[in-house]
Amino acid sequence: MPSWVITGVSRGLGWGFLRQVSNDPNNLVIGIVRNKEATEKRIAAELPPRSNIHILQGDLTDYASLKAAAEDTAKITGGTLDYLLANAAFVSYWEHFLTIGEVVNEPEKFEEVLLDGMKSNVIGNIHLFNLFLPLIMRGQAKKVIALTTGHADLELVNKCNLANAPLYAIIKGAQSVAVAKFNAQYAKDGILFLSLSPGAVDTGHMDFDNASEKEKEGMMTLFQKISEIAPHFKGPVTPESAAKDCISIIDKVSLDQGYGGAFISHHGNKHWL
Ligand SMILES: NC(=O)c1ccc[n+]([C@@H]2O[C@H](COP(=O)([O-])OP(=O)(O)OC[C@H]3O[C@@H](n4cnc5c(N)ncnc54)[C@H](OP(=O)(O)O)[C@@H]3O)[C@@H](O)[C@H]2O)c1
Repeated sequence: MPSWVITGVSRGLGWGFLRQVSNDPNNLVIGIVRNKEATEKRIAAELPPRSNIHILQGDLTDYASLKAAAEDTAKITGGTLDYLLANAAFVSYWEHFLTIGEVVNEPEKFEEVLLDGMKSNVIGNIHLFNLFLPLIMRGQAKKVIALTTGHADLELVNKCNLANAPLYAIIKGAQSVAVAKFNAQYAKDGILFLSLSPGAVDTGHMDFDNASEKEKEGMMTLFQKISEIAPHFKGPVTPESAAKDCISIIDKVSLDQGYGGAFISHHGNKHWL
């Protein structure tokens, strides 16, 4: 029975992953969330009864909670794990349509967002990988996937002068390097570490109507750039659809095909939309 640990299944894309993966009764899914009770209530209210879902408490900023989640996972799976999906992330929508020059003009907020993101998404995920590594070593699939974004693609940033969401991009860029470093060390043990971008997903954070004038300006600049680089793009997809695309890539990739430590999109390449 393939076993999955997925972080951040309370909402957004993580909820899409939880639904998709648990749809197959052959999968065992362990979701890690900050608020276990709230997620269990949502599952009871919105999903048909399923015996292949377990919810554990864990916060990326709390090492002890991640350690306890790894220990509890081992008790559920018998000490093994096939897939670790690092989906949870601290995301600040404050800077999504601002440039680095604008962001740094609010020095306190800038430092707070960058430090919070580094603590959760970089340090937290490094602890997560390390704590679950013994289970992954004993698993069959041996795949560790971290959700990332095309914003962290240097070629794209440079080619399109993509100036918005600078802190998100810096944090996800650092996370991708961590993924590659884990891969560099553990590929010899047959473990694949991969950074995977899900494309643009509607998880309810875009609020054009209530955006400030500066944010609206940033949104318009971004939409203009998107129409130039991806004229086929029709707008963000649902979490269900994005989860499906990502799972199909996760199924396909392997160390043998050269995906170790790679940074790719839901298309399996560098097309981010
Ligand atoms: N949506 C997109 O268009 C898009 C595009 C590219 C990449 N991504 C990536 O895809 C992933 C999911 O994105 P999303 O849009 O679904 O995000 P989201 O709606 O903001 O959900 C974030 C999830 O992460 C959890 N989380 C946040 N901080 C945490 C912490 N310290 N410890 C544990 N869990 C924490 C949240 O839990 P709570 O409910 O407790 O807050 C929530 O479940 C992220 O890695 C994101 O960067 C998304």
